[in-house]
Amino acid sequence: MSLSTPTLDTARLRLRPFNDSDASALFALHSNAYVLRYWDSPPWSERLRAERFITACRQIAEAGTGTRLAVDRISDGAFIGWCSLTRWNPDYRSASMGYCLDDAAWGHGYATEAARALLQWAFDTLEMNRVQAETDTRNAASARVLEKLGFVREGTLREDCVVNGEVSDSWVYGLIRREWRPSLEPDLGR
Ligand SMILES: CC(C)(COP(=O)(O)OP(=O)(O)OC[C@H]1O[C@@H](n2cnc3c(N)ncnc32)[C@H](O)[C@@H]1OP(=O)(O)O)[C@@H](O)C(=O)NCCC(=O)NCCS
Repeated sequence: MSLSTPTLDTARLRLRPFNDSDASALFALHSNAYVLRYWDSPPWSERLRAERFITACRQIAEAGTGTRLAVDRISDGAFIGWCSLTRWNPDYRSASMGYCLDDAAWGHGYATEAARALLQWAFDTLEMNRVQAETDTRNAASARVLEKLGFVREGTLREDCVVNGEVSDSWVYGLIRREWRPSLEPDLGR
């Protein structure tokens, strides 16, 4: 069953379906080696990857396995990244969360604000029970985002990823419906 992709407004952000016109900004984001330094695959070197990502967003929605949303800053309309819930399993009522923001937008609480809106939508609309996220153990900013959202660190996946020959461990985080605490305040970051 398909899942319609929502548009969600927060105090400072608009989360919306991807358009073909996002390809250039998406490619710039995912070809940035600094932004992707803790990612589970190398930075993109071909623009085609961005087009494929956007096609995959539609396929994910059509298959009903989740949602990936572009994140725009409302004040200037700039595309600053994306966040997602994928691997939606309606039997288990569980999914996996991911996000990636442009480094120029880091440190303002935007990732937390975007993820919180997406989680609230999922808890309300999908009756989600569990959300899982994995992050490189060196990625302190991502771990902090998850902890601010109420995720609990559940374990370590040793030597989980090998990217360009570099082996890294991942932390597994989980958020359970009964532990979810929605917040009405924007996360204004540092
Ligand atoms: C991880 C990421 C999404 C964070 O985005 P952001 O908008 O800066 O996040 P927020 O501002 O909402 O929160 C970041 C928190 O991490 C903290 N932080 C940032 N860098 C840190 C570091 N090196 N060590 C410890 N804490 C750090 C910030 O102080 C903030 O916490 P605070 O509100 O308690 O001060 C962003 O860095 C990113 O997109 N990175 C590249 C992609 C990526 O790694 N995605 C996650 C894959 S699992």
